[in-house]
Amino acid sequence: MRPEHPFSSRLAFFTGKGGAGKSTVVAALAVEARHRGLRPLVVELGHRASMQAIFGARHIGHDPVEVAPGVHAANVEVDRALADYVARNVPVDALARRIASSASLRRFFEAAPAVGEVLTLFRLEQLLGTDFHPILVDLDATGHALMFLGLPAVFDGLVPAGPVRRLLDGFARLLADGTHARLHLVTLPAQLPVQETLELHARLAGEVSVRLGTLFVNRVVPSPLEPGLVPTLGEVRAHDAGAAEDLGLLRAACARHADAQRQIERLHAIPMPRVLLPLDPVRSDRAALARLGALAATEGAC
Ligand SMILES: Nc1ncnc2c1ncn2[C@@H]1O[C@H](COP(=O)(O)OP(=O)(O)OP(=O)(O)O)[C@@H](O)[C@H]1O
Ligand SMILES: [Mg+2]
Repeated sequence: MRPEHPFSSRLAFFTGKGGAGKSTVVAALAVEARHRGLRPLVVELGHRASMQAIFGARHIGHDPVEVAPGVHAANVEVDRALADYVARNVPVDALARRIASSASLRRFFEAAPAVGEVLTLFRLEQLLGTDFHPILVDLDATGHALMFLGLPAVFDGLVPAGPVRRLLDGFARLLADGTHARLHLVTLPAQLPVQETLELHARLAGEVSVRLGTLFVNRVVPSPLEPGLVPTLGEVRAHDAGAAEDLGLLRAACARHADAQRQIERLHAIPMPRVLLPLDPVRSDRAALARLGALAATEGAC
């Protein structure tokens, strides 16, 4: 298995433009991981509930629940993570409970920048202590993901020795070590998502020391016909006047496909293995999700 393969590292992070298909790709890969005998866990950030919809599951909470045979999912709930964090770091139980349930402390934590993200890190560290593999983390869109993965640098010099420092240092080490963590990108073969992916990749190189995995190009439509084979309007009219309308639609589909191909070409500037995933309606369709997962986990890439 190549090192950038989504199952080779323990922690696999996914990001990309909003709506590109991050949650779908994560869910599909989890199904495939199970198919290969692994024990996958999908982790979502608390404010999302995508996995519930994708797997048709009941409430997914802080503790992992089985959402499909052998596939588990959990949400990072910041309140719960805070309670655990305080319990871990404040030695006296009763005091820890009072701190964690204090309204003023909660307000402080809500106002302080990046505390939710630090607590998310803490939760991931806890989950790394379980036997799940791979742990597939469905990050938010690119801006937030950059902030999250850049936490150790953001806090550099700001947080002295102590539990948060230890947590950040541990995370920085984890990110830098590709056997433990990889960041995968999900994009669409269209102008704006491709532009954003190119920019994200450039920023990642400069701002975050994380090992990169696979670039997933999602919702790729197959060619309706080789462009050179589409007859001209004049040729069709000469045979069948009624077919001119159909021909117009075909030409438009070919033009859209050609544009998608041009966008995929632009992605060649990113030195990551690429996997193209077809447009295949997946929501509430386990078989389609499994198909997509099998394709997403192919070693090949172009
Ligand atoms: N390969 C695909 N074929 C068809 N539909 C797809 C495919 N991938 C994703 N979709 C659909 O596209 C929509 C967006 O997908 P998804 O929710 O996975 O994106 P996302 O990047 O996680 O979005 P968000 O940024 O809102 O979290 C969903 O309706 C999903 O079912
Ligand atoms: Mg999502």
